Amino acid sequence: MSPRPPAMPRLGALLLALMACGAGMASTADQPLRPIAAWAYPQASSPDPSAPDTKPASHRPDEIVRVSDSPRSYRYGELFGPHSGAADWFPHDHPPLPAIVAHGTVPGAESCGGCHVPDGTGVPATAALAGLPRDYMLEQIAAFRHGERGRSEPASAQMMVKEAGAIGDRDVAQALDYFSRRPFKSNVRVVESATVPATHWQVYVLQPDADGHREPIGQRIIEIPVRPDDYDKEDTHSGFTAYVPPGSIERGAVLATVGSGTLLPCESCHGDRLQGRGTAPPLAGRSPTYIARQLLLFASGQRDSPNAAAMQHEAKQLTLQDAVSAAAYAAALGGNRH
Ligand code: HEC
Ligand code: HEC
Repeated sequence: MSPRPPAMPRLGALLLALMACGAGMASTADQPLRPIAAWAYPQASSPDPSAPDTKPASHRPDEIVRVSDSPRSYRYGELFGPHSGAADWFPHDHPPLPAIVAHGTVPGAESCGGCHVPDGTGVPATAALAGLPRDYMLEQIAAFRHGERGRSEPASAQMMVKEAGAIGDRDVAQALDYFSRRPFKSNVRVVESATVPATHWQVYVLQPDADGHREPIGQRIIEIPVRPDDYDKEDTHSGFTAYVPPGSIERGAVLATVGSGTLLPCESCHGDRLQGRGTAPPLAGRSPTYIARQLLLFASGQRDSPNAAAMQHEAKQLTLQDAVSAAAYAAALGGNRH
């Protein structure tokens, strides 16, 4: 566990939930998509004890902190802890928050905004909720409650299992009304690159090493905060850079629009430009780390609610390169490709 106070999904609630659940890894090591877990299953801290320092500076709990472009300030210690509520650096970004989005309501129910960000744009460790269909989200909450989504992995999903079990139906209704009506705006810029900053897990996000070292990307997606120090303070504006392998966006475009062999094109279910259709949710512009993680969870059977059958069938046919490419293409449809 991290020696620092945990930051949002970064945090407090996360750590507590993890300690309560003691979640472990399932033994599914033979699947082709399994290597995704190393960069897409969020960890509280690096499993490597000799990992170099990562970039964010440390702060005292009583230190007044700010982030770029926000008129607000908080004490650093106010940002974290199980009942700290959601840091709301940009209150003009969204209408008034329902109680459950802003702060916890009943014991065990933490603020949705603390992990999914008040405007619903999410972070790679959680999910973007803005603009998801209400019925789809309701199904997912039922799946978390029934042990049909993230049964034992990733460990980070156990936070959502705990949350879904704690919240009442009224809170769910208010939260879903709010998030389903928020316009979705992508917070990730997708960059093809043969090399990437070396990174280590720090409070559920990959942070670049302070020494600036670079390494080959391989068949990975490395999604890091644009401003590591601001992310550490739960900033929601600066967003993420996702490095993807050279050529993966074009390759993903073919998988999404034409398919390959018996693999159906993603767009045949997820709609034109992956904007979502029927029970298949929108994917365009969403975190490629999140998308790749879900592909592994479908393939390993960790997502097996009633509507998941089509996706399990699809994901089991994907090679690692397919999964990385499809996630890169979907994220790049957010319009932030460079
Ligand atoms: C302590 C952190 C935490 C809190 C609080 C939390 N979530 Fe989540 N939520 C997560 C994580 C982590 C995931 C992603 C799980 C995964 O990786 O599969 C998630 C996923 C979801 C999903 C699935 C999204 C998708 O695209 O399928 C929905 C819906 C959701 N959360 C709704 C909510 C709502 C509504 C609230 C407030 C009532 C809430 N969450 C509060 C951590 C949290
Ligand atoms: C035959 C229809 C079908 C095809 C083809 C398909 N999907 Fe899906 N997909 C679905 C459905 C339905 C869901 C919702 C599953 C659920 O409710 O659990 C889904 C869910 C997903 C999710 C989870 C989204 C979230 O918010 O958690 C991802 C990621 C995804 N699909 C990616 C893809 C990719 C990438 C492809 C192409 C390689 C693809 N899908 C092809 C039907 C399809």
